[in-house]
This record gives sequence, structure tokens and C-alpha cells, in this order.
Amino acid sequence: MQERGRSEEEVRSLLQEAKRRDLSYASGRILSSMCTSPLKVASRAFCDFLETNLGDPGLFPGTRELEERAVKAIASLLGFAGAKGFIVSGGTEANITALFAAREAAKRSRPEVIVPETAHFSFEKAARMLKLRLIKAKVGEDSTVLVSDVERRITSSTVAVVGIAGNTEYGAVDDIAALSELALEHGLYLHVDAAFGGFVLPFLKELGFPAGEFDFSLRGVCSITVDPHKMGLAPVPAGCILFRDAGYLELLQVESPYLTQPRQCTLLGTRSGASAAAVFAALTFLGKEGYRRVVERCMQVTLHLREGLLSLGMRVHEPWMNILVFDHPQREALAGELRARGWAISRTRRGEIRLVIMPHVKKEHAEQFLRDVEEAAEVL
Ligand SMILES: Cc1ncc(COP(=O)(O)O)c(C=O)c1O
Repeated sequence: MQERGRSEEEVRSLLQEAKRRDLSYASGRILSSMCTSPLKVASRAFCDFLETNLGDPGLFPGTRELEERAVKAIASLLGFAGAKGFIVSGGTEANITALFAAREAAKRSRPEVIVPETAHFSFEKAARMLKLRLIKAKVGEDSTVLVSDVERRITSSTVAVVGIAGNTEYGAVDDIAALSELALEHGLYLHVDAAFGGFVLPFLKELGFPAGEFDFSLRGVCSITVDPHKMGLAPVPAGCILFRDAGYLELLQVESPYLTQPRQCTLLGTRSGASAAAVFAALTFLGKEGYRRVVERCMQVTLHLREGLLSLGMRVHEPWMNILVFDHPQREALAGELRARGWAISRTRRGEIRLVIMPHVKKEHAEQFLRDVEEAAEVL
């Protein structure tokens, strides 16, 4: 660190110089991210609550109430307003928290958790931290987990089964209803990772798109991860973990002497009240009607892209939600050409090109993208 501080202008100019090198969602060129520009009202709320710390909630009872109200609103969206939980830093923390609770509840000497092989890498982290053996169940052609394979892998050491409602690569939704039945039959904990799908599926259904059950309306579902910093349009960091039964939270608690609350259940100690305020602001500002409109627009752009890519002769996976995967015989070269033209795209593990159509991707961006795909395919 330098000895003497610099002026505020100098600091700001250093920051701006760094920021100029970043991509921006507003350019419409980021087609690889599950995050987007947060709503203005949520960003303002975040700034207004910067100094709050929900690790010491007795100091910030107003902020704590905003968190409770935000959690309750998300819980009611996901089928059970009585579910309990917290605003956390994101899907990774939420998934770790869920598996931690499942492990504590089951108390097995060699605990195992069964996840679909498509599960997000946060489960690898959770398994290593929690000393859980990660058992990967096979998925079918449509990239949803084969429930028969999950069942085959259940042993006396299984402490949890995980289903995904909107997987990272394809947006595919596992048959959570069947997993719920399986969990009930075997007395197992079922966690649903709806980090992306939690703010999409409830609205898709209302818009008339096919969308299966995935939430607490299914009796076997014990916990759900959902990320407000993805399709919830809140600023990063904002995830949410919800438990059907508050008893699971008690399993996580430790004494927190010298703070305003005697026990703490969250993984983090000091944690941002700004995130909770921002999530509350986003939910309150948009309401269900606003989120439905956001999802509708994303789906319109997704379907427009799908049509365009099909007419260019690409092999396109049928989208489950606003994630579009397509392929070309020279996929490597095509991906390179698109990146060279300034598009941030990602690839699936199988190598296909993957696009996430977030609200910052407008129809005009989609049209430019299609023109570039056409040109790029011609020069291959
Ligand atoms: C299905 C799913 N679960 C969990 C995560 C992890 O979320 P985060 O990056 O917010 O920790 C992601 C992130 O893409 C995801 O797609």
C-alpha cells in the first residue's frame, strides 16, 4: 500500500479507468451470464443500506424486517409462505447451507448426496467442505436426471437428493414431482436448486409455457435455492435459501456471544443488509406482474433467436426457458468467430454454444447476433 492517500478525483479516475475495460450488460453483448443490470430501485436501496450488517440484527431491526418480508414474498412465490430462510450471497452459499442442514439432520457416518450429473459446480464445493460423497446420477437426452438412476443410487448413507429446476447449461427442469415422491418413499431430504429457474418457472407457467411443478407445493421438497441476483434483477450478491421446516435452521445454529442475537444460523457472520434491502425493493417494485412481463420479454427474444438460428441451419435445442443452446458442425471455429465479433458467449460441457437471454438482451441485439452468426458461418 502506498504511504500517502490520493485525492478523491484521482481515486475515481482509477476506478473509471478499470471500469472502462469491463464489458457492460447495456451493450447487449453479454450472452453468457445469468446476471444482468439490476433494477435502479434495487441499486438505490443497496446504496442506502450499505452500512447495515444482518450478522448483528439487533442493531438493524428495520433491515432485518425487510429481509423477513423479502424471504416471505419469495417463499409465497414458491408455494409455501411459511418457509423460513435468509437472503444469502448467492446460489453457492444457498446450496452449501441446504446440504449442511441435510447432513446435520441425517447424522450418517459416511454421508452421501445424490445430484444430477448436470448439477452446478457449487455442489462439488459443498461436498468437499462438508465431507459428503457426491454421487452423480445420469441424465437423459433432454438433460434431466433419470429418476430411476437416482433411485438405484440410494443407499443407507444417502442424506439428500438434489433436483435442478433450470439447470445451468440448458435450463432443463428435472422431474421434481417424481423426485419428491421418491424422497417421501425413502424418507430422504430433497433439495431443489432453482437458482435460475425460481424467478422464471412460476411466470412461465402463468404465460402458458409448459413448466412442471418444482416448489414447496410438492410435499417432499425440503429446501429451495433461488437467486434474486439472477432473474430477480437484484444487484450481486443476492441469493436466497428457504427451508420448509424451521427446525433445519436450528441444526445450523451456533452461539454468537457479544452480538445482539444469541444464536446464528447463517454461514456468514457479518453479512450485507444492503442485499436484503435491494431484494425487498426489487420484489416490491415489480410484483408478480412485473416479473411476468420480464420473463415474457426474455422468452420473446429467446424464441426469436431460436427461429433465426434454425433458419440459418443451426441445430437448436428446444429451450426450456430463456437459455438457448445451439450447435454447428464447426462449433469451435464458429464460437471463435462470434467472440472475435465481440459477443460474450459460453459453451456447454458437450461443446455446444450456449446463450442466456437476460433482460439486457433486446430484440435489436438478437438481430445483430443473427447477422453475425450468418456472416461468421459463411467465412468458416
Ligand atoms: C443452477 C445453479 N445453481 C447454483 C448456481 C451458483 O450460483 P452463484 O454463482 O450465485 O453462487 C448457479 C450459477 O450459475 C446455477 O446456475
